[in-house]
Amino acid sequence: MSQHRIQELELIIERLNSIGIHLSTQTNSDELFSFILEECMKLTKSDGGSIYIKKIVDKKAFIEFSYTKNSSKTFPFSKFMMPLDKSSLAGYSGYTGEICNFESMEMTERIGLTHNKKFDEENDYNTCNMLVVPMKNFSGQVIGVMQLINKKDDYNYILDAAKDCTEHIKPYTREEEELISSLTSQCAILLERNTLLNDIRKLFKTFIESLVTSLDQRDPVTAGHSSRVAGYSVCLAKKVANAKGPFEDIEVTENDLKALYYAGLLHDIGKIGVKESVLLKRNRLTDATIDALRHKCQVLKYNLLYEANQFTKDEIADILDTFSFISHKEALLMMNDNEKKMRKFIKENASLITSKLFETLETINSSGFLPEENEHFLKLAASIEYLSDEGEKVKLLSQDDLKNLNVKRGNLNGEERKMMNNHPLYTFDVLKEIAWTEHLNQVPKLAAYHHEKLCGKGYPWGLKEDEIPFYSRILAIADIFDALTAKDRPYKPALSIEKTISILQEEVKANNLDSDLVKLFVDEKAYEDLNKIDYSSLY
Ligand SMILES: [Fe+2]
Ligand SMILES: [Fe+2]
Repeated sequence: MSQHRIQELELIIERLNSIGIHLSTQTNSDELFSFILEECMKLTKSDGGSIYIKKIVDKKAFIEFSYTKNSSKTFPFSKFMMPLDKSSLAGYSGYTGEICNFESMEMTERIGLTHNKKFDEENDYNTCNMLVVPMKNFSGQVIGVMQLINKKDDYNYILDAAKDCTEHIKPYTREEEELISSLTSQCAILLERNTLLNDIRKLFKTFIESLVTSLDQRDPVTAGHSSRVAGYSVCLAKKVANAKGPFEDIEVTENDLKALYYAGLLHDIGKIGVKESVLLKRNRLTDATIDALRHKCQVLKYNLLYEANQFTKDEIADILDTFSFISHKEALLMMNDNEKKMRKFIKENASLITSKLFETLETINSSGFLPEENEHFLKLAASIEYLSDEGEKVKLLSQDDLKNLNVKRGNLNGEERKMMNNHPLYTFDVLKEIAWTEHLNQVPKLAAYHHEKLCGKGYPWGLKEDEIPFYSRILAIADIFDALTAKDRPYKPALSIEKTISILQEEVKANNLDSDLVKLFVDEKAYEDLNKIDYSSLY
């Protein structure tokens, strides 16, 4: 073997090695095909090449002209489809699985086809010879066809259409047929691997989306919260990636962003485990209970109008005491414990008294904070009774009603609050059962720690500052930001950005949120990027 041939083979081996390394890491199909096409052209010193990909449309097989390159000319490119049958050169090779090596284009007659010169004529090009190779996958099925044209004696030589067909054109060798066949098969196998990977990703994406949808359906009022929290979190993490100062040493990788995105989507998934009566509770009492109270106040009104004599003096005084708290205080004081006057007053004002009573209960029911005077009112109201249909005296407010109405802040009583505050525990329990890949194995913790506070007073674990992961801190900011600014909650108006920012800054002062992250979120207006992120890259 000549020294020149040895050198040539060594170069081929070197090239094949580097192709192998590159192929094994390539997960983008477009890049994979472009790369393999160019490498096959270089290996065979071809002037041009194309790849056709097999497609099934309405159960019929086609090949689509998908990628093309040419060293000597630039051709206009647009995709088109041809039947996968013997009616075209590429179709023939794909259909039969045969490698077709045409030393000259007249040789296509061997397979009963005439080379169509229209393309060459229109583009002032001259196709002199051609190697057509089927791309076969692991099980030998054709997934596409590679077509190489015009093998040259020097890859870098620019062909002149008019005269170069004999001068610089060389025939494709048997060795090259095998080489290209082997490389295109590798490519086909990788494509199948990529397709499989994409299918798995798609499967997982739809699985996560359907989990989030089922949460949204349980509580339609907060629908969209999980997706927005995921979005705001990614916006902030991307700002971190480009920030200097305290974030200079923090490297935000693609995998970090993915894990954060999943954690954002799933952070409240544990709410699936919270009873509906608690999850959907908007006020201190349920809608059914407040409706029942309205009815009871009506009954009380008729009691006072028509059956006032059945109430003792003390009971009448109780009702008046409550009423004096809400209205006509002076008039009542003037009665000075005169039973007759009291009964008369009660009868004349039955409607007013009971409607005021119900209005006050309704106000307490829906207010976020219970002022002291209302606490006092509830103490008085606790003793009011009405006469049931059976003529029995029944307390207007049950022990449960009183417990719920007496909640100082918010709408949930102690037990309900505990159940609600345990949702991150359920989030963790649900997510830890998923077989996360290595780069996503932090998702359960990142998601579950979103209500932890740096001061250690968060819930449900009460973690200390150094126990709260960086990306959970991001999630905590995004969660609060969306809860305050969400426009779709009928029971709670959305706050302005300014007001929301000032609340976030209060949270920093209370050592609940990370000060550097809140500063970055606010200074860089990370929240404005919500609709600018390419979410498809995060799956
Ligand atoms: Fe939460
Ligand atoms: Fe949340």
